[in-house]
Amino acid sequence: MDPIINAVLKPKSIAIIGASTKPNKIGFKVVENLKNCGYTGPVYPINPDAEEILGYKCYPNIKDVPYVVDMAVVTVPAQVVPTITREAGEKGVKGLSIITSGFSEVGDHALEEEVVKIAREYGMRIIGPNIIGVLSNSDKMNASFTNFLPLEGKAALVSQSGALLIAMDAATYTRRVGFDKMISIGNQADLDFADLIAYLNEDENTTCITLYIEGIKDGPRFMQEARKCTKPIIALKAGSSAHGAAAAASHTGSLAGSAKVYEAAFEQAGVAQALDLNDMFDTTLALSLQPTMKGDNLLIVTNGGGVGVLATDAAEKYGLPLKFAPEDVQAELRKHMPSFGSAKNPVDITGQAGLEGYYEGVKYAYAHPWVDGVVVLYCETSVTNPQEIAEAIYNALQESGASGKPVAVSLIGGDRCETAMKWLIERDIPTYNAPDLAVKAMASLRKQNEMLKTAHNGLYKPDDVDSEKARQIIAGARAKGRNALTEVEAKHVFKAYGLPVAPTDLAHNEDEAVKLAEQIGYPVVMKIVSPDILHKSDAGAVKVNIKNEQGVRDAWKLILENSLAYKADAEIDGVAIQEMAPWATEVIVGSVNDATFGPTLMFGLGGIFVEVMKDVTFKVAPIDEATALDMQSEIKSSKILQGVRGELPRDQKALAKVLAHYSYMIYDLQDEIAESDANPVIVYEDGQGVSVVDARIILTKK
Ligand code: ACO
Repeated sequence: MDPIINAVLKPKSIAIIGASTKPNKIGFKVVENLKNCGYTGPVYPINPDAEEILGYKCYPNIKDVPYVVDMAVVTVPAQVVPTITREAGEKGVKGLSIITSGFSEVGDHALEEEVVKIAREYGMRIIGPNIIGVLSNSDKMNASFTNFLPLEGKAALVSQSGALLIAMDAATYTRRVGFDKMISIGNQADLDFADLIAYLNEDENTTCITLYIEGIKDGPRFMQEARKCTKPIIALKAGSSAHGAAAAASHTGSLAGSAKVYEAAFEQAGVAQALDLNDMFDTTLALSLQPTMKGDNLLIVTNGGGVGVLATDAAEKYGLPLKFAPEDVQAELRKHMPSFGSAKNPVDITGQAGLEGYYEGVKYAYAHPWVDGVVVLYCETSVTNPQEIAEAIYNALQESGASGKPVAVSLIGGDRCETAMKWLIERDIPTYNAPDLAVKAMASLRKQNEMLKTAHNGLYKPDDVDSEKARQIIAGARAKGRNALTEVEAKHVFKAYGLPVAPTDLAHNEDEAVKLAEQIGYPVVMKIVSPDILHKSDAGAVKVNIKNEQGVRDAWKLILENSLAYKADAEIDGVAIQEMAPWATEVIVGSVNDATFGPTLMFGLGGIFVEVMKDVTFKVAPIDEATALDMQSEIKSSKILQGVRGELPRDQKALAKVLAHYSYMIYDLQDEIAESDANPVIVYEDGQGVSVVDARIILTKK
């Protein structure tokens, strides 16, 4: 654990620079909050005019404090912050928590950079500026201007929004989701999400990390730290923007949007994405209290058929479909229910079920090796007391002799259920007021288990690549002042990264075209090669299925005529002669350089699937072949690849190899490739391979 960051987030002594004697000021509130929450370390208010504040001796300047100061909370106006940062550095303060607003969030980047620069000179770390402060139950520390510590618990919240942190702090009590820490990170001038993930991963009081994110500064570093983290991370990402999409030159560019890339990055890094605030609280409750679910066998115990069906529907919806319990499980469970109950799954112990039914049923089910996780549902009835049922469930789990499996409960009813829910949550059992929420929580525990497995994989790197050759081709195009490769150049770059490109060569005159066509073999495709004509079909500059010499000569004339009609002053390199790949399933592979996460791969089926339905999926590069297979099943039209209506499945393995190699190409050449497309890529029947038919690469601006 980084000792300096630890000193900032878990300080043994705190100064408040800009502490005030006036109760309506933030500089007073912070001192008051530290006092009221029971912080046990020394507190040093700094104010040029005051003698003492709330019983703490005041110092005119941080340098006048005769003791060690770990962290200083800053509540002076923005213009004064550089001066006090230098003074704190000279004093040897380890870090600052800068509450003050008025920096990059209002456009004053220079002031913020100045403060960070000064802090770096002294080896200080900064949290903020523009924050509420830092709260920690385990340290009894409320170094913020929100009034109280959150409900005690095991999660840690890192929030980019100060107002939301204050609201969530209060809501922890009504929602009964406990947090040990709440950290406001504001402008992330120094410490950012990645630093805090790394820190909290080692914090003994944190079991799960919850993030409210508006924007990540360094996407690859965020992913790297999230991948290393062994604790669950939940992220609520606000703001989705198609910024820049309209201006993008390639197909992929217009389909990517930052929200989709964030979604992909979270998934790849093992971060659970919360859909909204409710989901963020509900998921935090489960992931902070329960172990992950190691297998797919979910067993539901219920006293109501209706809620059992709702839970079954939810299980399917959230990707954890129920299976019938094995015969021995059913036989044992039948002993604890009336004859009209059902032991299959959901296990319906019926509305007549009392304490014994719940106790015996849950105890047996939880301990059975077939069961990977249990959801217990209870509908309030006139013959049972919700509190007694809660106790029976709790005792059953405790006395089952089993551990390491997750459980979630739903108590559906009125005030008595609310009280019993609170009781169970206080005992680390995530409990919800609706059956689908308990199932959803279990699905998130299952997903977390699977994500953590793959997130820890190292970065993919194939060995059959020749990046030097690719860089030479790119340098050649740049030397001619171009920022896009011709199709032939792009195909050679693809080839250097091991992609199966349909044989293509450049003809500079009609006779050469005939010669190349004969070498490649008829039928062939002919396409204009011009840096000024990117959309060749629109220009009428593509001819397919040319079967003989006369066809080549006719096509040559027509293509040149159409190209010049499309753009009279177009620079023309020649005409590409390409093998006419037999037609099969058409897919598109492409890339963008995402502003946050860098090179990002796109995949979808071609034609109307991409044009109209926008049925595409993204992954941050590079990805391995297993992830590339997953990527193929993520699109809605994935069944087409698997083989529909009697057609044989497509060669998904070969396609996975193409996607993985392509992803490595855009990762390796990220300083050179801004956007690219392989469109179309033809995917043949299983075992028959894949052929990249067209290629486009747009270079980065240098
Ligand atoms: N050393 C020590 N104390 C100093 C110094 C100094 N160099 N200079 C000034 N002070 C004292 C002042 O004398 C004053 O104390 P006093 O009230 O006893 O006179 C105290 O520091 C505060 O200075 P003020 O000039 O009175 O500033 P004020 O309290 O009005 O505002 C503040 C300061 C709160 C930092 C303000 O500039 C600010 O940024 N407010 C916004 C903070 C915020 O909302 N952050 C979270 C954003 S997230 C969200 O959206 C909720």
